[in-house]
Parts: sequence; C-alpha cells; structure tokens
Amino acid sequence: KRDIDPDAQANHEASMRKLDNYLDIAKGEISRLDYIISQFLQAIRPTRPELKPVSLNDIVADTILLLDPEITNRGITLEHHFADDLPTAPLDAAQVKQALVNLIKNAVQAMTQEGTLTLTTLADDEGVWVHVADTGGGIPQEKINRIFQPYFTTKEKGSGLGLMIVQRIVREHGGRIELESNTGQGTTFRLWFPLTEHQPLRIAAGETETTD
Ligand SMILES: Nc1ncnc2c1ncn2[C@@H]1O[C@H](COP(=O)(O)OP(=O)(O)OP(=O)(O)O)[C@@H](O)[C@H]1O
Ligand SMILES: [Mg+2]
Repeated sequence: KRDIDPDAQANHEASMRKLDNYLDIAKGEISRLDYIISQFLQAIRPTRPELKPVSLNDIVADTILLLDPEITNRGITLEHHFADDLPTAPLDAAQVKQALVNLIKNAVQAMTQEGTLTLTTLADDEGVWVHVADTGGGIPQEKINRIFQPYFTTKEKGSGLGLMIVQRIVREHGGRIELESNTGQGTTFRLWFPLTEHQPLRIAAGETETTD
C-alpha cells in the first residue's frame, strides 16, 4: 500500500496552478499578437474597393448585429437613426463595415458604463453620411492630428492602425472624414461617401500632366 505524501500533493497542486496561470498568460499573448498581425496585414493590403450599389443603412445595420453583444456587455446604450429613403451608393460593403467596426470599437473603448453610442445615416445632394458619436473622454487637441498616423496609440494594447485603415478605406471610395471632439464630452466621426463613382486620375504612358 502506498501512502500519498501530503506535502508532495500540495506541491503538485501548486505547480499545476502555476502552469494554468502560465497557460492563461500565453493564451492572452497569442490573441493579442493575432489581433496585431491581422490589423497589420489589413493595413498593408492594397485592396481596391469593389464598388456595388448598396444602402449605407444596410451596412450599418449589419455592423450593429456584429457588435451589439460587445456594446451591451459593456453597459453602453446604443441609439441609431437611419435616414428614410437613403439612396444607394457605390460602396464596398465589407470595407465600409470594417471602417465602422474600427470606429465603433474606438467609441466603445472611450466610454465607460452609461455611455451612449449614436449611429446616424444621412443623405445630401452628392453623397451619404454615417456618423459615429460617443460620449467618451474626447481627444485632446494636441493629439488630433496624430490619430490617423499608423502606430499612434494611447492604449496599452492598441496597434494604432485602426484609424489609418478607416482613412484609407474612405479615401479609396473618394469620400472624406470629418471629426469633432470635445474633451470630457465625446467624439463624433462623420464619414461621407459620394453617390457617383469617383474616377481615379489616370495618365496614359507618354502623356504629361498639363495645366491651363
Ligand atoms: N472615439 C474616440 N475617443 C477618444 N479617443 C479616440 C477615439 N478614437 C480614436 N481615439 C484616439 O486615437 C488613437 C488611435 O486610434 P486607432 O483606432 O488608430 O488605434 P487604437 O484604437 O489605439 O488601436 P487599435 O485600433 O489597433 O485597437 C487611440 O489610441 C485614441 O487615443
Ligand atoms: Mg482603434
């Protein structure tokens, strides 16, 4: 008959706990690196948008479905205002969704409980808008012109590529970004996309650019 040494048993349990702990840390690091790599790969991928006429309302609704659990989990209130009869615009739905995901993640990360995230769509004569507004801490003036730079981040685990990707997607669509931020009150990003396809400037071989 074998006796189990209680000391050895306790030692064994302690090392199992340690091992578990290390595994948790390793898992955390793996998912952190996985996130950084996928953001990075997306940032350097030179994809032209595949434009198809779609409603920005549908893309926003789709993005909400994707992120709603995370938003609700954090105790954040989500409001949305969809414009009626929003015209379709030539958009790459997957890319625009990615841009919205990046903006909404930033908005959510800027807020604590009791924050409100407001998503709004609008049309004007030449294009469609989506506004992403949060009631978070805002962006201090001295940081505003750096936030679109790759690798600029104020977050411990941020890659600083999120907004660079948003900017690239909007630019490739011939659209633009407006930003309003008040420290202590919140931030609003407004994306605009044109209704007519924007033709990238092409110069045929041998031709030179002329000015008149
Ligand atoms: N809605 C916002 N409210 C306050 N600060 C913001 C907001 N959006 C962006 N920022 C600031 O801009 C910085 C850059 O944002 P960006 O999305 O490019 O990178 P990140 O969020 O830090 O990292 P990642 O997107 O990879 O998680 C953020 O670190 C933050 O300081
Ligand atoms: Mg981000």
